[in-house]
Amino acid sequence: MAPPVDLIIRCFSRRRDAARVEELERRCEAAPAGKATVVLQVDTMGDPLCRVRNSSMHRMLVAELEGELVGMVRGSIKDMTIRSSPEEHAKVGYVLGLQVSPLHRRRGIASSLVLKLQEWFVANLVDYAYMATEKSNAASIKLFTGKLGYVKFRTLSILVNPVRRRAIRLPPGLKITKLNTDQAERMCRRFMGSTEFFPGDIDQVLRNRLSLGTWMAYLREPDGSNAMPASWAMLSVWDCGQVFKLRVQREKGSSCVPYGTKASSLLDRFLLCLGIPGLPDLSNPFGFYFMYGIHGEGPYAGTLVRALCRYVHNMASLANDCKVVVAEVGACDALKLHIPHRRSLSCSEDLWCMKDLKSKDKDAAGFDWTKSPPPPALFVDPREV
Ligand SMILES: CC(C)(COP(=O)(O)OP(=O)(O)OC[C@H]1O[C@@H](n2cnc3c(N)ncnc32)[C@H](O)[C@@H]1OP(=O)(O)O)[C@@H](O)C(=O)NCCC(=O)NCCS
Repeated sequence: MAPPVDLIIRCFSRRRDAARVEELERRCEAAPAGKATVVLQVDTMGDPLCRVRNSSMHRMLVAELEGELVGMVRGSIKDMTIRSSPEEHAKVGYVLGLQVSPLHRRRGIASSLVLKLQEWFVANLVDYAYMATEKSNAASIKLFTGKLGYVKFRTLSILVNPVRRRAIRLPPGLKITKLNTDQAERMCRRFMGSTEFFPGDIDQVLRNRLSLGTWMAYLREPDGSNAMPASWAMLSVWDCGQVFKLRVQREKGSSCVPYGTKASSLLDRFLLCLGIPGLPDLSNPFGFYFMYGIHGEGPYAGTLVRALCRYVHNMASLANDCKVVVAEVGACDALKLHIPHRRSLSCSEDLWCMKDLKSKDKDAAGFDWTKSPPPPALFVDPREV
């Protein structure tokens, strides 16, 4: 359907829109009137831009109809690796947090928002645009793959591990050290730089105040040599709780605040924690840690990744309000087996869709990323959680 003629799509203005955005988010997934339901409340701590703010190029658009705010979308742009051999980079735009008021759906508003965001991408010489959604979100998949010309590209698994207050014992005979940011950057670029979706500005990620650090685990070498150990693993941790808090509640006829595209599939998982014996109580505001840049080499890489995940769990158990630890990896990533998670809380169906925005003359090399087969591993940027 053609969008209403009086539809206005414009940039978000904190002064004019902050309160209205919150209100729209509350309305967006209202539970059926009078029905008791479990809802997830997301407190963005007064900052609707919090999920894109950490990307150096970001934008939020709102849709207005007769003075009413009826939709929104966020986007960010960055340079990233798109294939390993030969190593190639591209400018890529990410579409997230698309929502339209339930009373105004199927009128072309979401399409108009995304097309406008794509204009901003193209004006900034973006080569590809992508978005993430749960495989079960038929409306979103039909919108992007049907109307907007995206293709289904990669499937990822979101792994959620509840935090217990008791520390987990680490296996003996291994050493875990915290890398400083220069070392972490060097290691990330050297060992993950050719991984798909690896961000060119990894230094910004590692130096961000939300990045708690990077840890490396290795088996103690008997000779104390300085060479790289035969088996080792590393990962970094991002503290999402500093940006937004979550709270799971049983309410009557209340509303659920969805938190954008990818996050909604992630956050939906937390609802499952409610009422399961032994799992943390999520009825008070809580945050979560996100593990990223998970990599290992050598015959014991898997064991060392597991040990690092336990180490992060123990860190989380000491933090005030961190109730879950989350990681996201490619659905076929071999390390997935070694990342502790509750299967019932995790999601193996996070779908990323991609669109080629390049002008034809830029395609001289003939490589089309949207048609390339999935690599064994890919990098998930914590800024996009
Ligand atoms: C998904 C969403 C953003 C669509 O917004 P919208 O303004 O209704 O979308 P549009 O009117 O632009 O729809 C364009 C096309 O997408 C498809 N589509 C949209 N909603 C659909 C639905 N519920 N079922 C099937 N197809 C749908 C249709 O092909 C539609 O074209 P048509 O109406 O001519 O058949 C909206 O339903 C929403 O806010 N959902 C909750 C939040 C969410 O899931 N966001 C994730 C987006 S990744």
